[in-house]
Amino acid sequence: MSDKWTPQANPFAPPPRQRQSRRRKLLLLCFAALALVLLTNFFNLPASDEHVRAQRVPIHAQRILAQCAMLKMAPGPPAGFRERKESDRYEPGTKPTLIRNATIWTGARDGTEVIYGDVLLDKGIIKALGYVPSQLLDGLKETDVVDADGAWVTAGLVDLHSHLGIYGLPELRGTFELNSPNGPILPWLRSIDAFHTHDESVELAIAGGVTSVQILPGSSNAIAGQAFMLKLRKPSDRSASSMVIEPPHSLNGTEFDSSAPPRWRHLKQACGENIDRYGTRMDTAWSFRSAYNEARKIKLAQDAYCEKAEIGLWESLDGPFPESFQWEALVDVLRGRVKISNHCYEVVDIDALVRLSNEFKFYIASFHHAAEAYLIPDVLKKMWGGIPSVALFASLYRNKRESFRGSVFAPRVLADNGIPVIMKTDHPATNGRELLYQAQQAYYYGLPAGLALASVTSAPAHAAGLDHRIGVLREGFDADVVLWDSHPLRLGATPKRVWIDGTVQIPIPAPGSQYADGDGEVLVGRGKDDPEWRELPEVPNWKREMKRTVEWEGLPPLQGEETEGRVIFRNVSEMMVRSRDGEALETRFSMQATKAGGDEGVVVIEKGRVQCAGVGVACAAFVTNTRDRVVDLRGGVLAPALISFGAPVGLEEIQYEYSTGDGVLYDAFTNTVPPILGDVGGVMHASDALQFQTRNALLAYQAGVTVATSFLQAHFADRVIPGLSTTFRTGSKHALAPGAIIQPVSALHYSIHRPSALNLLGQQSATSVSTQIAVLRRLLLGKEDVEGRTETGKWFGKAAEGDVPLVVHVSDADAMARLLMIKREVESMRGTSMRMVFAGATEAHLLAKEIGHANVGAILSPSRPMPMTWDDHRISLPGPPLTNDTAIVKLLEQKVLVGLGVNDASYAMHTRLDLAWAAVDAGGRISNEQAMAMASLNLERLLGIDSLWATEQDEDVGGDIVAYEGGGALDMRSKVVAVISSRKSTVDLV
Ligand SMILES: *[C@@H]1O[C@H](CO)[C@@H](O)[C@H](O)[C@H]1NC(C)=O
Ligand SMILES: *[C@@H]1O[C@H](CO)[C@@H](O)[C@H](O)[C@H]1NC(C)=O
Repeated sequence: MSDKWTPQANPFAPPPRQRQSRRRKLLLLCFAALALVLLTNFFNLPASDEHVRAQRVPIHAQRILAQCAMLKMAPGPPAGFRERKESDRYEPGTKPTLIRNATIWTGARDGTEVIYGDVLLDKGIIKALGYVPSQLLDGLKETDVVDADGAWVTAGLVDLHSHLGIYGLPELRGTFELNSPNGPILPWLRSIDAFHTHDESVELAIAGGVTSVQILPGSSNAIAGQAFMLKLRKPSDRSASSMVIEPPHSLNGTEFDSSAPPRWRHLKQACGENIDRYGTRMDTAWSFRSAYNEARKIKLAQDAYCEKAEIGLWESLDGPFPESFQWEALVDVLRGRVKISNHCYEVVDIDALVRLSNEFKFYIASFHHAAEAYLIPDVLKKMWGGIPSVALFASLYRNKRESFRGSVFAPRVLADNGIPVIMKTDHPATNGRELLYQAQQAYYYGLPAGLALASVTSAPAHAAGLDHRIGVLREGFDADVVLWDSHPLRLGATPKRVWIDGTVQIPIPAPGSQYADGDGEVLVGRGKDDPEWRELPEVPNWKREMKRTVEWEGLPPLQGEETEGRVIFRNVSEMMVRSRDGEALETRFSMQATKAGGDEGVVVIEKGRVQCAGVGVACAAFVTNTRDRVVDLRGGVLAPALISFGAPVGLEEIQYEYSTGDGVLYDAFTNTVPPILGDVGGVMHASDALQFQTRNALLAYQAGVTVATSFLQAHFADRVIPGLSTTFRTGSKHALAPGAIIQPVSALHYSIHRPSALNLLGQQSATSVSTQIAVLRRLLLGKEDVEGRTETGKWFGKAAEGDVPLVVHVSDADAMARLLMIKREVESMRGTSMRMVFAGATEAHLLAKEIGHANVGAILSPSRPMPMTWDDHRISLPGPPLTNDTAIVKLLEQKVLVGLGVNDASYAMHTRLDLAWAAVDAGGRISNEQAMAMASLNLERLLGIDSLWATEQDEDVGGDIVAYEGGGALDMRSKVVAVISSRKSTVDLV
């Protein structure tokens, strides 16, 4: 839009007479009004500028001057904001709320401030904090009073990096609007224009205590568009517009008060390999530079124009106020009014963006993902305009080359260098509900507690320019508050209550939610009665690991020290072993159980075997020999090693670097299996594709996940026959090393899935579900190659006979029902008993009883699902605070043998955290032993890994044993210090 300001603006359409005279009057008025201004200007000018008096003043002069004045205004809250008595977001009719007796973590002072007392919420803001004067309460009607009973209260969490709504779940063609294909530079796009309010993950995110999110477009474009900060509460008009916090004045183009300071705007930029559809990194850099050059030209023209206008040189102004609807957002960047979130992983990219910021003089508020940022604090500090924040994943690394050097220690290293750390989910890259889990992991790996909490509250609020109202609990701030059932940095911390703008979100107000009244009143905090739950958890010391990680630029050697000699573990609080019948795990001794003051548990290992295990003097005979290696577990435990299932551990080094993996499987359903293979189905052995010493495998080993069962094509649901899985030791050097291959073939895998919604317009072939099922039935009924001469005939025959487990990757309950029928049919026809397992199994709880009756197992993978696709959108039992039950509890109740898996290879090392979550979410209905069994014993039984124990003499101590220092296996206090392997006759000190 441009201002037509000269009377001759439209010479081709002379105005009608009456208008003309009115116009003249107006002009005269204008002249009169401006005379003063000009006069004032005149006296400020050098006396030689005689011509000034003769200037013809344009009709819109005032407007132009106002516009020019606006260019100089810094964004921020309007004057008097801090004294406001009511929020602009207040929903009339919302009752006041008084939270009594809370432990209030305000988030202020870098997250170190804690206040004990009450919180009063009214009119959408925090009215009082700590001490609430009684006269404040007296005037209020119908106040909701919540007794916190000393529990923790924090500000609502802020996720600075989310794709909620624009990558709407479940994935459907119409709700996947993340990336525009229209070029690398698109600053004129706005994420709010594609925000689908019915995204099923919105409610789930609130259930995780998340109250505000930044909706980022991209990142397949260098500039993907404008981002918006939203509150997740559903506004009364149900619109996305009303969810926007402090919408930029220009958002809906209406007239606005130009004297008010502008609001912060937000922009998403990206760099690196995501932009490769538009060329190389060099092309991306040029895209940026040419775009900012356009913006700079406009900005300079505006500044020159305004300089003249402001001194009254109207006649020398050439044309309208220079502006561009297309580039205005980037001009605002150059004017310092935009908070940029910049996706960038590597040194090369961050360095380039810091250069760009200096070339064009603009500030980047936050680098996102930034896997290598912790290696270059000094480069970050060269950013034009100040130090940027760095927004990180806690542990999603190594899935692409750009993140290969990422580290769990990055948050601490950055914090030590004075760089503000933000943790984010990138939902749905990780579960948007688990923002706090990102902070908990950062805390576990060394980020101080205050900064860990700040990383999901005040730090992102600051990076978004909204730290005057969200991210901190303070009088006058927005009433976005979470009341937690435990200390927020404890794994599995769950909101008892969530308020946004003072309106209660959790417990869910029925109706209007798919979870309301799901399984009765939800009891949050079950099993967390021990006062310890309210305390900050202790965490291990990682100084050595952290230092090495930086020294080795993210790739420290992962070899431990191997010893065949005797190792004595002292100060052992518990030893968990397999029960004699092999059906369960049990605790052999526990210091808590024996309550023997002063006594300690001792476990003696020789040649990788337990020589003695007991309390007090039980192993006294061994403890005297000083030449033995002695490891003080400081109250830690010994427990069976864990197994990884679900991720392609050992089949590739880097997920998105195909050249580091096995390649794409043939698809028997579209006839690409080459005849030379001599097998109609193309059944492949994962063991033929195994690689040892991949970083994910070694990191898993060091974290006590010493065995993995992997199958091909774990990433691609569109291959129906993933083939035969293999079970191997994650710490082995090569396939021929002793004990490296535990079982060449573990199970036969088959996959039943609907076509992907993102397979737009079905360009790629996709096999129908009915075809997948028909083929499976045919193969199991032995209609293919009855003699079993081909791999397909042989292995499906074995599966039908129950000689090998049949693992069906399936999420949809209707497909599972069909599979149960096929199983019955096959078994009655062939007189066999199949070993069928559902993997993925998101909707298995809907058929828990039937699955239990059919003696089918379930491996939930991931264990805390999202409603990702249509196949698994009925997650329906997401656990507290939405439902009492979780899918795991429901399945266990029906005596289903349950295993837990992880889907990303980088998560294998955190398998035990998933087990801990499962136990916490079950609210005391799953014991630690049961939880541990879900990623060890149960997986062995489900996947037919029988050779793990076969050669053991001591039946209750076989397989690998893991030594945890400082706490239990499911405990944040502990870290793995040794792996004891009877098969290798060694102890590996990691
Ligand atoms: C506040 O909660 C704590 C912890 O439950 C309790 O011990 C204390 O008595 C409570 N104080 C009041 C005033 O209710
Ligand atoms: C448009 O924006 C103005 C200023 O932000 C706001 O007051 C108004 O309610 C908005 N209108 C609509 C229809 O969203």
